[in-house]
Amino acid sequence: MATKRRVLGTALAVGALAVTAGCGGDDGGGSDGGDGGDGAAGGEVEVFTWWADGSEKAGLDALVKVFQEEHPDFEFVNGAVAGGAGSDAKNVLASRLQTNDPPDTFQAHAGAELSDYIADGQVEDLSGMYEEEGWTEAFPESLLDRLTVDGKIYSVPSNIHRANVVWANPAVLEEAGIDPSATYDSLDAWIADLEKLDAAGKIPLSVAMDWTQVHLLETVLLADLGAEAYNGLWDGSTDWSSAEVTDALNDYATLLEFTNEDRQSLDWPDATQLVIDGEAGFNVMGDWAVAAFEEQDKVFGTDFTTFPVPGTDGVFDFLADSFTLPVGAPNPDGTKAWLSTVAGPEGQAAFNAAKGSIPANTEADTADFGEYQQTAIESYANDEIVSSLAHGAAAPISWLTDITAAVGKFGSDGDVASFQEGLVAAAEKNAG
Ligand code: GAL
Repeated sequence: MATKRRVLGTALAVGALAVTAGCGGDDGGGSDGGDGGDGAAGGEVEVFTWWADGSEKAGLDALVKVFQEEHPDFEFVNGAVAGGAGSDAKNVLASRLQTNDPPDTFQAHAGAELSDYIADGQVEDLSGMYEEEGWTEAFPESLLDRLTVDGKIYSVPSNIHRANVVWANPAVLEEAGIDPSATYDSLDAWIADLEKLDAAGKIPLSVAMDWTQVHLLETVLLADLGAEAYNGLWDGSTDWSSAEVTDALNDYATLLEFTNEDRQSLDWPDATQLVIDGEAGFNVMGDWAVAAFEEQDKVFGTDFTTFPVPGTDGVFDFLADSFTLPVGAPNPDGTKAWLSTVAGPEGQAAFNAAKGSIPANTEADTADFGEYQQTAIESYANDEIVSSLAHGAAAPISWLTDITAAVGKFGSDGDVASFQEGLVAAAEKNAG
């Protein structure tokens, strides 16, 4: 172990200096070379994500490019399984881990989701690497806290995303008689404008399959309960059967009435595309959506605008992707090379610029990042941070699965009382 870490330490230093050519072929071979790492081991590195298509794949490609520059002797193998938010990937991963067929590294959300893999003994402790590479200094404490379990850190964060963002098409709003620069203090104020869009024959609020509805629900809970009571949903201090939660569910029910009927057959890129194409006025989605707008040359402030979900201004609904070293990974040297690129300032700058997120590594250069991303950097630095449900930060996978089932059922029967019962039952079953 110690040797491998030494090898990697050098690899990271090489990466940090942005030496991109000829850095890998200089060692004497053998895994104990310790003089560059790249030529020391080699082989394939299977990276398991759900960034399979579109702007998400473009983000992954940007990271892979830096990986190949920093570690030319390793070969990236794309193990991506399509489906937003890991809706399919997480099941595929679970069965691979169960049958002792882990990839070399897999994407996992910081927070409760990561704790699942840790509790199941499926990922290695990376605390030693953190110390040797100085990563404890490179990442913000708020993030390290969400990665740390019993004093140990088991994954390397690649990015920080914000979930509570509304994406708007100003031309569509204007056409419906809505001031495109309007912001809204509450969901009620926003709903009044959704009615105008409806009257104008537009989809007021686009949404997609179940997980995107969970995403919408979490932002409504946050808007109506406020940050403290929202946090309390996950630590038992907020009662899921309370009248406040009922009010939030009623607001959610109202919002759902303004969404597109074909939602179950869409994933997030399709729902966001409805705003891009001018068929919908608004979409609530995490800020990976900015990459979809920009990929299609849409200009922030002109072709699209954003604002925090009404009622959540001053709060950053947080999630982060991170990468692991699975127990039994076929090529741990390759994994560590991948992790060093993921952590390093070059990998972080290239990946996040393309992905729409902000770097987890505070040393990454964000000067060239787009205007939207500057707002996210500012918000993350100054706002209150809460953990996303739909993206693994707030609750374990089993709880999220049960909430998703309740959301799916509500989407077809529209029964608020039984929806709340389902959510109460999910909390009783899963709360720690
Ligand atoms: C999230 C993930 C993001 C983005 C999104 C949509 O769970 O953290 O990086 O990929 O899903 O698929």
